[in-house]
Amino acid sequence: MEIAVIGAGYVGLTTAICLAHLGHEVRVFDLIPEKIDSLKEGSLPIFEPGLEQMLQEGIQSGKLQFFSNLPETLKGGKVTFLCVPTPQDEDGAADLSHVLSAAADCSKWLEPNSILATKSTVPVGSALRLEDSVARHDVHVVSNPEFLREGSAINDFLYPDRLVIGTRSREAAETMLQLYSQVQAPKVVTSPESSELIKYASNAFLAIKLSFANDIAALCERTGGDVSQVMHGMGLDSRIGPNFLKAGPGWGGSCFPKDTRALISISARFGLSMPIVDAALESNEKAHKRMVDTVMEQLGGSLEGKKIAVWGIAFKANTDDFRDSPALAVISRLKRRGAIVTAYDPKAKAKNDNFKRAESALEAVEGADALIVLTEWNEFQDVNAEQVRRLMAGNAILDCRSILNSAIWRKSFNNFRAVGMHA
Ligand code: UDX
Ligand code: UDX
Repeated sequence: MEIAVIGAGYVGLTTAICLAHLGHEVRVFDLIPEKIDSLKEGSLPIFEPGLEQMLQEGIQSGKLQFFSNLPETLKGGKVTFLCVPTPQDEDGAADLSHVLSAAADCSKWLEPNSILATKSTVPVGSALRLEDSVARHDVHVVSNPEFLREGSAINDFLYPDRLVIGTRSREAAETMLQLYSQVQAPKVVTSPESSELIKYASNAFLAIKLSFANDIAALCERTGGDVSQVMHGMGLDSRIGPNFLKAGPGWGGSCFPKDTRALISISARFGLSMPIVDAALESNEKAHKRMVDTVMEQLGGSLEGKKIAVWGIAFKANTDDFRDSPALAVISRLKRRGAIVTAYDPKAKAKNDNFKRAESALEAVEGADALIVLTEWNEFQDVNAEQVRRLMAGNAILDCRSILNSAIWRKSFNNFRAVGMHA
């Protein structure tokens, strides 16, 4: 099938490259010409495991093409995917301006009897607004939300838990089902409104699950429980499930923070509150603060002038993305309490006045009073604890992702703490 993809970000590129891998003819557009130029050369502007190689395969097979010109991108397209950002506005609502303007720009060039599908996360009711924006009776607007986790996006695209297709047109639903015919997964065909809500409800529920795990972690720290064992024991109950229960420094990324706030904002527009989602956000702030309180306690009650090494800036491992990263939230709180922070991340290129960057895990710890692990990169597990001990000035470690082998690290550091574990 001939496909167009608008927006070459994390979602647009994963969608385009995976659809080309499945044998479709895919044309990709982005507003930034430099991005298109480097993509044509086979260079991926983001870090996502396995994706660059599949990009090159797609280019070589001729199935994947990149354009800075919109009419050329849309030529022949049976389905056009909108993958442009929906950031949050000042009130926490989703800002639809990119989506609406991209749809309006496409309108004139969309093929007759084609589909405009939104992958971008859009509030309930957006499909109708997009229909107005497109203003074409021969084009169907379909909601087809993405459920791609950065770091495992290819797997999530090719082997999803489910596909959701929101449309009232049987013909459009059939075309979408045909497009995904090789993807083995339950396919939920529903109204655009339900489809749009499935996306927000899923992300909010996952955020609630994580906030719950983080709240239990705090209780474990006080009582002598071990949160990983508590979550394991809880997750074996099939009604609860074992996934997405890993306690950490709080959740972040390009989706959960904005989608939870957007759900609250949509509900408020309809006169409803979402107290459980509110609580999940509040718990997340508390999780950031608890990390800082813990390291402060480890250092004797003050962070003023203390040198803190941080391992990990990305919002999770296996991505270079640091949008709404809990690591950056924790670093900002450390700075406010007077700490001097040096941070290292293998991929995330974030920079700000709250910290100095180091080029390696070992460089970051030189002369540090404490080390905090904020992203669960595998390479941190390979660092030698004794070598770190020799480089550091102090002996405090806080592992907010429970990735260091505590039995080994405790031998070198008698002031070792891990999230959700009693001191
Ligand atoms: C996506 C979705 O769009 C968002 O709704 C979802 O909730 C999370 O993931 P993402 O792929 O992460 O966003 O966005 P980003 O990496 O910012 O890429 C968007 C791309 O679209 C950029 O390359 C930008 O240049 C391009 N763009 C933006 C357009 O081509 N046209 C526009 O009108 C706006
Ligand atoms: C999310 C959704 O999971 C995905 O379906 C799509 O809607 C895009 O948004 P993403 O944000 O890329 O994916 O990553 P995800 O794996 O969901 O992690 C989000 C945050 O939760 C990260 O900060 C991560 O570290 C944290 N997390 C996740 C935990 O703290 N513990 C867990 O068990 C899982």
